Amino acid sequence: MSKTQIVGVKGRRVWDSRGRPTVEVDVTLECGAMGRAIAPAGASRGRAEAVDLRDGEETFGGLDVTQAISGIDGEISSALVGLDGVDQVAVDDTLISLDGTPNKARLGGNATVAVSMAVAHASAASEGVPLWQYLGGANAGPMPLPEIQIFGGGAHAARRVDVQDFMVIATGAEDFAMALDWTAEVYRAAGQTMEEQGLLQGVADEGGYWPAFDTNEAALDNLVAAIERAGLVPGDQVSISLDIAASEFGEAGLYRLGLEERELDSDALSDMLVGWTERYPIVSIEDPLGEDDEAGLRKFTAAVGNRIQIIGDDYLVTNARRVEDAAARSACNALLCKPNQAGTLSEAKAAADAARKANFGVIVSARSGETEDATIVHLAVGWSAPQLKVGSFARSERMVKWNEGLRVLEALPGGGRLPPRELFPWGQN
Ligand code: PGA
Ligand code: ZN
Repeated sequence: MSKTQIVGVKGRRVWDSRGRPTVEVDVTLECGAMGRAIAPAGASRGRAEAVDLRDGEETFGGLDVTQAISGIDGEISSALVGLDGVDQVAVDDTLISLDGTPNKARLGGNATVAVSMAVAHASAASEGVPLWQYLGGANAGPMPLPEIQIFGGGAHAARRVDVQDFMVIATGAEDFAMALDWTAEVYRAAGQTMEEQGLLQGVADEGGYWPAFDTNEAALDNLVAAIERAGLVPGDQVSISLDIAASEFGEAGLYRLGLEERELDSDALSDMLVGWTERYPIVSIEDPLGEDDEAGLRKFTAAVGNRIQIIGDDYLVTNARRVEDAAARSACNALLCKPNQAGTLSEAKAAADAARKANFGVIVSARSGETEDATIVHLAVGWSAPQLKVGSFARSERMVKWNEGLRVLEALPGGGRLPPRELFPWGQN
């Protein structure tokens, strides 16, 4: 028997950052190495992503995961025990065919992604190295550039503002630690500014300040003011990044801005966003139009794709084929890579590889429902993804990722410098 053969797969119900049930998995190998991972959960999901298996009964608002856990301890465990843990592709292929649906609906994407990640952790442990090193070997790194939320909105803040994430990217920072230092100052400055205006009302789901603004532009103005107050130069040292998450307030090319009580068609929303990119130091926009509005995405990309990063999240759902199609149609120029949208590590990696091949940017991303699991930091470094998005700079389910990044930074050969500017040319304006 090989020392890295899987001998145990065990699921357990734990709790996420919204106090909802989620799935944790322990995988044990013959040599005694153990790997553990927890599934995250989205609230602003793409229609085509892998779905979580939830019980749907009264308990915990229908969100319990006892069926997903039974599947792990039963069918999944039986299928995986005996496989070699270091053969991630064989493990993931087994999960995919065992589930048998296009979106992991039978066993649950929450079950499959937790198992898939736990297997990778166990294999890294069997070699006595951290996961990033196990995945990337000598090619691991550099450290990804962090994309960090300052104000949370949309589905993460009871739709208090329409735009879901108002974020910063420290485009002028020299290394990961400096990017965090600068963001900490911007976050603090934003809090002070909110307090002085009587707008400080706690934080949204990912730790960004609750967006008590009257318009989306007021949030942008406050963000620029916070960067300046932190003593940093907007657009040079620290730039703005937005996740519009337009599928959340639009369908079939019609968008309803609840805050401003305006209805916009695809062109009008696009024009509004293009206007923002001209007035504010914005370097990246995610899901500017709805996942079903490919014509709008193409128009938007034709208009500004040569000077800002346009990320597909709901639109690409971490799917390699969708990335290839989007590249062929010039409908965006970067992939948000969320492992649980795919349901296995191998599928998420295939999407990241397809993105790199298409010359797309890659941003490895957490979900709005998170835990103490820091796997995505290791994926970003091990897969050499140039950027990392994990929410804000508060609450430990977020900070556990940034702090893990600092530990990886220390260990990464070459000091873990941020990707060279050519990989992120948008920070030059
Ligand atoms: P989520 O969305 O709530 O589905 O995790 C986050 C995002 O849109 O990036
Ligand atoms: Zn998004």
